[in-house]
Amino acid sequence: MDDLRGMQNQLIQSAKLAAVGEMTSGIAHELKTPLAGISTILSGVELAKQLHQEIDMDATCSRVNLLVQRCSAIIDHMRNYSRRTEETHSQTQIINQLLKNTLLLVEPQLKRIGGKLELNLGHDLPFVVGNDIQLEQVFINLCNNACDAMEQSEERILTIQSMAVGDEVLVRVSDTGTGMRPEVQERIFESFFTTKSSAKGTGLGMSISQNIVEQHKGKIRFNSELGRGTTFEIYLPVAS
Ligand SMILES: Nc1ncnc2c1ncn2[C@@H]1O[C@H](COP(=O)(O)OP(=O)(O)OP(=O)(O)O)[C@@H](O)[C@H]1O
Ligand SMILES: [Mg+2]
Repeated sequence: MDDLRGMQNQLIQSAKLAAVGEMTSGIAHELKTPLAGISTILSGVELAKQLHQEIDMDATCSRVNLLVQRCSAIIDHMRNYSRRTEETHSQTQIINQLLKNTLLLVEPQLKRIGGKLELNLGHDLPFVVGNDIQLEQVFINLCNNACDAMEQSEERILTIQSMAVGDEVLVRVSDTGTGMRPEVQERIFESFFTTKSSAKGTGLGMSISQNIVEQHKGKIRFNSELGRGTTFEIYLPVAS
């Protein structure tokens, strides 16, 4: 049994690293933007000095500081996310915080495909109990799939919603992508089932996500319409 759990953790870990790998180019791009901003601000300071103009150092420092914090948050989060599954524990979680962490990693990818984010987070949602890294992994898998599905679409909108429904918290992830044929819909939770090239998909994302959601005593549902898009819903029980 321990062996099985060990193997399962190993599988989760490799899928997670693969997901980070997929996001790397987007993240590199995202880090470059604030760095370029810092460089522009510093050039401005240099120029002002040469022209003997006055510089508002307080304002300059706080602008640089904001950009540094942005880079730092992205790096911290990536490091956190890559930690091994066994090193993380089940705790009370604030679902909106997990979604915001997820977006730190997903937004660069969405930008890269020219997509738009619509975020609609419920206020004062009850806590859920679980493993933050694993739950984020589920949300990342859903968002990665959504981005992949929208790459060729005319409209590229990723909608993320959270709300309380009875004694559960619902997270809904919708895309305006390709949608799925019925024969694909039937198989998405199968391990290694993928319609993507081997460079792009391992076919583990959804089966691992289903596994994680079930471990959290939650439910995963979806609705997909060919040519219009797909919506996934994750229901997690509220912490008692
Ligand atoms: N939002 C979606 N829109 C369209 N098709 C989807 C969506 N989510 C999943 N699929 C389909 O389900 C298949 C399985 O998804 P899954 O996430 O398990 O694997 P993958 O994305 O192909 O590879 P991996 O996630 O391991 O990189 C995908 O190949 C795709 O055909
Ligand atoms: Mg996937």
